[in-house]
Amino acid sequence: MSESRVANSLAGRSTISVDDLSLEDIRAIFDTADGIVQDRPSYYGSAAGRIVATLFYEPSTRTRLSFEAAIQRLGGGAISTWDVSASSVSKGESLADTVRVVGAYADVLVVRHPNEGASKLAAEYAPVPVINAGDGGHEHPTQTLCDLYTLRERHGSIKGLNVALCGDLQHGRTVHSLAFALARMEANIVFVPGAGNDVPDYVLRRLERDYHAHIQRERLGILSALFDRPQIEDGPATVNAIYITPSEPHQLAMSSVEGTTLEYRVGSGESLSLYVTRRQTERGSGGAGGQYPAVTLDTLKGSQFENISILHPLPRVDELSPEVDWDPRSLYFRQAAIGIPVRMSLLWHTLGLGGEVDAARKRPYEQEVKGLRYSHADFDCSNATCISNGEGRFATPQFEVVRDEEYLLRCLYCDQETRGAYVGNTESRFYYPSELLDRFRPAVRPEHVRFHRTEESAEAAGFKRASTRWDNLPARTGDAARRWLDTAVGCGR
Ligand code: NCD
Repeated sequence: MSESRVANSLAGRSTISVDDLSLEDIRAIFDTADGIVQDRPSYYGSAAGRIVATLFYEPSTRTRLSFEAAIQRLGGGAISTWDVSASSVSKGESLADTVRVVGAYADVLVVRHPNEGASKLAAEYAPVPVINAGDGGHEHPTQTLCDLYTLRERHGSIKGLNVALCGDLQHGRTVHSLAFALARMEANIVFVPGAGNDVPDYVLRRLERDYHAHIQRERLGILSALFDRPQIEDGPATVNAIYITPSEPHQLAMSSVEGTTLEYRVGSGESLSLYVTRRQTERGSGGAGGQYPAVTLDTLKGSQFENISILHPLPRVDELSPEVDWDPRSLYFRQAAIGIPVRMSLLWHTLGLGGEVDAARKRPYEQEVKGLRYSHADFDCSNATCISNGEGRFATPQFEVVRDEEYLLRCLYCDQETRGAYVGNTESRFYYPSELLDRFRPAVRPEHVRFHRTEESAEAAGFKRASTRWDNLPARTGDAARRWLDTAVGCGR
């Protein structure tokens, strides 16, 4: 097996976000998966004596069973707590303690948990690598590997492929991870949400900020076939389309002004995939009586859908009719079956089974942060289901400072952004609205800045309100208008 150089780079590493995998890592995982598909017996025995522990705090069929089958097909073994009520979790044991204990029994932990950021916390505490098998409504990177492998197998290249992500885009962790990967691989994405299930702003902003995505609103166009009633103008009739590698028709669309009635369409020769998902009712996604995109044979009858593929991470409820199962365009059972070679490959690389020196050693989890890091204990993530709130005794607050219309702190556990409406200056002990940071010169040094969500919390931390006269300090112009964040990035790392 010749992948040892690349395998080295994954050995001992945790996979928490799809962003933890470079394009080279993904290529290496797929190359090995290809090898497994062609000749599975030659991999049998490579993980002899190795154990994977699956810690599932939420129900699962595909993910848990395919990880357990994958390690067994490599000749290793699996231990599992799939019913946490039968483990010490029911006695109140924390995740941080559980993974330290189980990490002594196994070589890799596969963790699914209802709180966003749980797998990152697990990776910070476990003595062995952790693989995120779904953390709340946040990410599900190994499902993305299965999705990408299936798309690649069917369409050849991901670059330039059009993918319509449909359904519960708000809570769908598979959708979030897939969108980040597709953007990185230069696919075009269109979001087709159910009523009330729009893709969260923090996901859109990350697509723009980290992947330089071009986002514009369009009318559903050919995708209105996914809804059973004609769409009203300002309802779900407009969707966010993201163009990374625009080809002719999209360039046309991009050059237009806002408010035009451009319709989503796919140019001739371009491929389209529909990625359908169920409503995540367990995360509070109500029916709301609104429209939800669904695929039936009737939806697919137009010539524009002749050469598409249909994917679904499964389980399905009623958004994908069983009559489509026999249609050659449907790939979802293949996509589920792909879970075996893809997860065998990921485990093979993570366990360093390519024969690398030191492969068994866990490498500390290092999350790449492009901007300014911020980790002061007096700022909490506003996402109530973030693990940093659930296991506050173990999770150190960690944020990236980002600037949209205002200063926001992106939680490095759950990705969600919390408004840092006020800042206190630890030198002067005064606090003021955070947008004033951009106006004060010389720029406040990042180590003196303490963000607060409210005036009350700034005051509780001992800051005094700076005179409200400053609130009207005029915005700077010209070169002086550089934002505080731009000057702080670099000196605050
Ligand atoms: C998904 C999940 O758990 O997020 N299932 C899976 O792992 N294939 C999708 C879902 O539950 O809707």
